[in-house]
Amino acid sequence: MSIIPPIITPDLQSSATRFVRACLRKPVDRSPVWFLRQAGRYMREYMEVRRHHSLLEICKSPKLAAEVTITAAEKLDVDAAIIFADLLLPLECMGLDFEFQQGEGPVIHKPLRDAAAIDALVTTRASELAYVGEAIQRVVTHFHDRIGIIGFCGAPFTLASYMIEGGGSRNYIETKKIMYRYPDAWRKLLDKLVVVLREFAAQQVAAGADVIQIFDSWAGALSVPDYRDFVLPITRTLVREVQSLGVPVIYFGVDTASLLPAMRETGADVLGLDWRTPLDQAWHGLDYACAVQGNLDPITLFAEPEFIRTRVHQILDQAAGRAGHIFNLGHGIVPGTPVENVQAVVKFVREYVPAHRDVRHA
Ligand code: CP3
Repeated sequence: MSIIPPIITPDLQSSATRFVRACLRKPVDRSPVWFLRQAGRYMREYMEVRRHHSLLEICKSPKLAAEVTITAAEKLDVDAAIIFADLLLPLECMGLDFEFQQGEGPVIHKPLRDAAAIDALVTTRASELAYVGEAIQRVVTHFHDRIGIIGFCGAPFTLASYMIEGGGSRNYIETKKIMYRYPDAWRKLLDKLVVVLREFAAQQVAAGADVIQIFDSWAGALSVPDYRDFVLPITRTLVREVQSLGVPVIYFGVDTASLLPAMRETGADVLGLDWRTPLDQAWHGLDYACAVQGNLDPITLFAEPEFIRTRVHQILDQAAGRAGHIFNLGHGIVPGTPVENVQAVVKFVREYVPAHRDVRHA
């Protein structure tokens, strides 16, 4: 239980949830908390649904996707629910088929390897993704304004890397080959992705998503100059387009310590931090010019509760009560994580008493 007196002034009081207010760097009573991959294989209820349905069946059934989203958010008692979907869904409506193979992750059947394949990509069928919006509507109907509802999409670079490599990658050789050697084709691919992603995000916002998170999970594979030359401009375009729908944007990547200042230039409202950089260092390096989300190492969740509490409170100490911190992991929850430890993190965030109340009250 928090002992901080309410500090929300009447004129700031709105229907916005603690989570949305934190995205906008408005004062809140405590850091909101949710988890990347909060619905997933570590959770018994999810595995029960997975016994009867494939991952794509769940994504494409608004009823099942909503059920999985709601069950996870309620079980963890978090401040936000991220819609159950997958990054790769837009590939299908652009003409690239893929499947999830047991233990291997996604496999794209015919990866893009030349300009002709990029030319052939379709950008007019985003309406086929409407099932995600339908799932969001169901989640909104369930929660109303009790917690924040997060829609999401992949960032142009991360999606392009899957389309070109055909799956996960270690060195991104094929992706960087196209980027360096065929910059026109590269730009065309990213432009086409943004046409579809903008429409996909608009459907999710129309359905009631409060915030859109853009996952650039593999941006950390890029040097700062490559990120700036080949990725930043188009990502900034996508961020602005999504913001123009009237919602804040969270922009997240992994292994991004050196990229954060450039990522900030996308204009995203919130940057998702991985766990490798201390949160206070990262935020200071960003001149506190945006909100931040993170950044507990997800593997900490395998430790004893007392150790987890120490790490959670260290992160909250680093956030120092500043407006604009959202507690999360530095990447997704992995299979095998004890669910009670995830629940314990929520409790530890709630019970935290800030040592630096002066900052929050400033
Ligand atoms: O609760 C939630 O977080 C929402 C659900 C969600 C899924 N995928 C469902 C899923 C979200 C937000 C994603 C995003 C996603 N998908 C990302 C970005 C997030 C990140 O980790 O940085 C990426 C890179 C993908 C692509 C993807 N989907 C991969 C690489 C894999 C295989 C890896 C694995 O863990 O097996 C998936 C499969 C996937 N998507 C699972 C889930 C719950 C696990 C597989 C299953 O249930 O069969």
